[in-house]
Amino acid sequence: MCGIVGYIGKRKDIYPVLIKGLKRLEYRGYDSAGVAIIKDGEIISEKKIGKIKELEKKVGKGIIGGEVGIAHTRWATHGGVTDENAHPHFDCNNKIAIVHNGIIENWQTLKKLLEEEGHKFKTNTDSEILAHLIEKYYKEVKDLAKATRLALKKVIGAYGLLVISLDEPDKLVVARKGSPVAIGIGKAEYIVASDATPILEYTKKVIYLDDEEVAVINHEGYKVVDLENSDKEKKVNNLDWDITMAEKMGYDTFMLKEIFEQPDSITNTFRGRIIPEEGKIKFGGLNISDEELKGVKRIIISACGTAYYACLIGEYIIENLTEIPTEVEYASEFRYKKPVINGDCLFIAVTQSGETTDTLFALREAKNLGAKTLGICNVVGSSIAREVDGGIYLHSGPEIGVASTKAFTSMIVAQYLFGIYLAELIGKVDTKQTKELIYELQQLPDSVRRILTLSDEIREIAAKYQDNRNFLYLGRGNNFPIALEGALKLKEISYIHAEGYPAAEMKHGPIALIDENMPVVFIATKDKVYEKIMSNMQEVKARKGKIIAVANEGDKEIAKIADDVIYIPKTIDLLNPILTVIPLQLLAYHIAQRKCCDVDKPRNLAKSVTVE
Ligand code: AGP
Ligand code: GLU
Repeated sequence: MCGIVGYIGKRKDIYPVLIKGLKRLEYRGYDSAGVAIIKDGEIISEKKIGKIKELEKKVGKGIIGGEVGIAHTRWATHGGVTDENAHPHFDCNNKIAIVHNGIIENWQTLKKLLEEEGHKFKTNTDSEILAHLIEKYYKEVKDLAKATRLALKKVIGAYGLLVISLDEPDKLVVARKGSPVAIGIGKAEYIVASDATPILEYTKKVIYLDDEEVAVINHEGYKVVDLENSDKEKKVNNLDWDITMAEKMGYDTFMLKEIFEQPDSITNTFRGRIIPEEGKIKFGGLNISDEELKGVKRIIISACGTAYYACLIGEYIIENLTEIPTEVEYASEFRYKKPVINGDCLFIAVTQSGETTDTLFALREAKNLGAKTLGICNVVGSSIAREVDGGIYLHSGPEIGVASTKAFTSMIVAQYLFGIYLAELIGKVDTKQTKELIYELQQLPDSVRRILTLSDEIREIAAKYQDNRNFLYLGRGNNFPIALEGALKLKEISYIHAEGYPAAEMKHGPIALIDENMPVVFIATKDKVYEKIMSNMQEVKARKGKIIAVANEGDKEIAKIADDVIYIPKTIDLLNPILTVIPLQLLAYHIAQRKCCDVDKPRNLAKSVTVE
């Protein structure tokens, strides 16, 4: 769940490269950080609890010189958050240094064995095992890459691993199983990282390691082998992300920037995939033939967190358009429930990072049971993107803020495109309908732009409610998942307790909570359940609850009941959640900002959850 960065090359100063890289990965985990650089026959290392700036303060003027270095930003799994437990970790003689992302599951057994052989451990982490295991094998084989391979063969668990050693000071050894690793190939230099964002600045050429692969990099080049030392051919990919996409561009936070990017990120998801004049959708990488798709009898969509809510909206869209029974499953529940699946079943994994362990394991389970699999994913080359039969990339650009915003709206767009494609293929919609559906999609970016102009107004509303300790979010139909997502956003970044409910369910229980201290956020746009929602609102009003409503422009009635109204443009029912979620993202954002919370890095969370 952490970020790792490694560098080898002839650059004058590698410390800033490592630190900058860590900062780009800080969203992955940020309870402590550390760095190690080989310089003049010594490993210079510093580590510190807290965010990366704490490490920088400790290092002071920086580490000057060196040609090989590794760095880490941690999200602790084993061992408390202390300076000692921060990475890098060392062998007994401080000659080998490692940084590790993941969990070594058999660490206790290995630690016992190593201790019996005389190894002395300095930390309570699982990761330190790796340094000692490599040390043990190095003594036997005198080859860092080989010692690493031998060590990894003993390990059960997941790793993204970087190893350096004073005995082979011009080498960086990299390995992967379960945790992502990308290797950037620059001009006479290599930058290795958990994802491509630290690499972008230096090169657009990357290779992605697969599970149980080890790369050995020196100044002359790199070589990738498997754990048995057989050569592996690696495809060099060209990154199409721009470095400005990974920077704040004048916004206070990444989250705000990402909220404001939505007109573009939504466009990027459908760009090149729609042929409006023909009413057609085309995909580049589905890798499932039309014949196979025609045979699909059931669809299961699976994900976690915000992506799960996007799936609930996808279910509504796909079922509505295709009439194929569609279900949504929490990925973490799916794999343990003995799922009933066969070859007629299409399994869709939806994920921003493409690295969420629960989603990855659910996907593997579905594959084993014979389902065809599709990924809807943002990060190109990520684990899930590489394991699915085919996929639709979101193309929404790097999402750095831990709370997902632009990936969420793009996930809905991607499922909408897929729904139209499939419905057209099986004859459930005609060209006139698909043309209309595509036309409505094309109007969205402008509507989103209009909603974003309300940010200041929403900030004023936030000021009125920021001190409340509880919120209720209510919506119906495909706005029920938006109630869930609105509540999740608020919880994640402002630490205020919030619950999402189907509006009609309120009277079956949550209504007991309503009093003058309970703000209730209603999604009350003009759709087929509008009148019902208005009645639910009256029920809240009668109990002195405070009402914030998201309504359609021109709705005069609602202002008579609601304390505050956020007016948004109208669109068709299927696309409405993309517009209704934006005010809720902004509401959560402004409440959290007013409370001085760190919205980009909320406490206890990490951007990519690579543990079960
Ligand atoms: C989003 O705000 C959350 N931090 C979280 O729920 C996230 O959506 C979830 O962990 C799934 O991540 P993924 O899309 O990268 O798979
Ligand atoms: N399991 C390791 C630890 O707790 C690495 C965790 C991480 O990936 O940050 O230190």
